Amino acid sequence: MLRRSFIRGATNKFEEQYASTGSSVKGGIGRSKTSLQVSLIGSRAGALAEVLAPFAQHNVNLRNVTNRRQSYESKSKYQTMYLDVDAHLEDAVMKDHIMPALNHLSHAVNIIGSWKIPWYPTEPGHLDLLDQNTLSAGEDLVDDPENPHPGFHDEQYKARRKLIAQSAKAFRHGDKIPYMDYTEQEKQTWTAVWDKLLKLFPTHACKQFNNALPLFLENAGFCRTELPQLQTVSEFLKDATGFTVRPVAGLLSSRDFFNALAFRIFFSTQYIRHHSQPLYTPEPDLVHEIVGHVPMLADPQYADFCQTIGFASLGASDEMIEELGRCFWYSVEFGLCKQPGGVRAYGAGLLSSAGELDYCLSGKPQHLPWDPFVASKMPFPITKYQPVYFVAEDFDDAQAKLEKWIDVQDRPFTVEYNKYSGKVETFPKTAVSLLVDQK
Ligand SMILES: [Fe+2]
Repeated sequence: MLRRSFIRGATNKFEEQYASTGSSVKGGIGRSKTSLQVSLIGSRAGALAEVLAPFAQHNVNLRNVTNRRQSYESKSKYQTMYLDVDAHLEDAVMKDHIMPALNHLSHAVNIIGSWKIPWYPTEPGHLDLLDQNTLSAGEDLVDDPENPHPGFHDEQYKARRKLIAQSAKAFRHGDKIPYMDYTEQEKQTWTAVWDKLLKLFPTHACKQFNNALPLFLENAGFCRTELPQLQTVSEFLKDATGFTVRPVAGLLSSRDFFNALAFRIFFSTQYIRHHSQPLYTPEPDLVHEIVGHVPMLADPQYADFCQTIGFASLGASDEMIEELGRCFWYSVEFGLCKQPGGVRAYGAGLLSSAGELDYCLSGKPQHLPWDPFVASKMPFPITKYQPVYFVAEDFDDAQAKLEKWIDVQDRPFTVEYNKYSGKVETFPKTAVSLLVDQK
């Protein structure tokens, strides 16, 4: 089965519309941060007040002010201060007033860093703010001449998709997911894919997937002849790992999709692919989400891995989102892992595509050890099978290497998750700690 991108890069035309905020939330306000090291000659009364004065005068907030520790016995003629400023170096007030004033007072102003931090949600309800009109493959199907959409000329299918997309758009955090009354034709499409995939799972899917699938058959409405209902699936998943499912109209930007993972929320489409090609879909559909992703999310280690990607995406730069997208692609979508019986698939793009599931373990494509430093730089084809798959030693290995990669990213804040409230808090790194990080 060929398929187009299940996730979207950070620089596609849909996101360019909102590139100024780096978020698909209309009017979502990000924040800016600049960290400075300022050296003053002498330790005299009033020197600190002189440094702080321009900030008050031009209404620029200082988030942290720290002095370098100095002993009474010190003979140094310099006094060093570290300032964390709620503004960006490119802001007019910084360029025209603050920096000239600091340069006048100090013989050495060292810029440790300056960042524009895009808006990000800090609680699950904020996902209601996402503008789903920016989506591709939502209400209006997109036809790519190089990769034609099988349902593009089927008015009945398009009307059905529109109806399902509108239902997803109306969903608000805390709502019950609306019941979807699937047609006989949709059920036949589901069964056609189901039959192909289930034959391969015992030999090709990882044990975490094969352990979870029967539980979904017993408890979450999975079966050969009926499409599962998202509400039932979400309730079962919540009991397993705290993950829940939220309906979405179509393909989300990678930033928005990853942001939801931080709250252990998985965005899922509710429609199914076109009946004319049951083994092909140009965009994620219910088969991809529910058969490919959801059973894996019942595994605690894998669920944590996905949430880690979510944390990393909050307030990340567009460049980092793009690299994180490649890490996600080569793991959550197309990842392989070593198991006692040999290499097996855990990526949803594989577990929802009989053709590629068979191909990925056929010995034809290249297998590389899972390494986010390599994966994050490696572009991927979106209309053909992957030439390269990354193989993790196990989920501990996948997690440890991902965390190592995240640790070295240029981010001026840390994220903490409160599992009781389900909210995140972000704390700015001080200029001093950023300097330590750079060493
Ligand atoms: Fe996916």
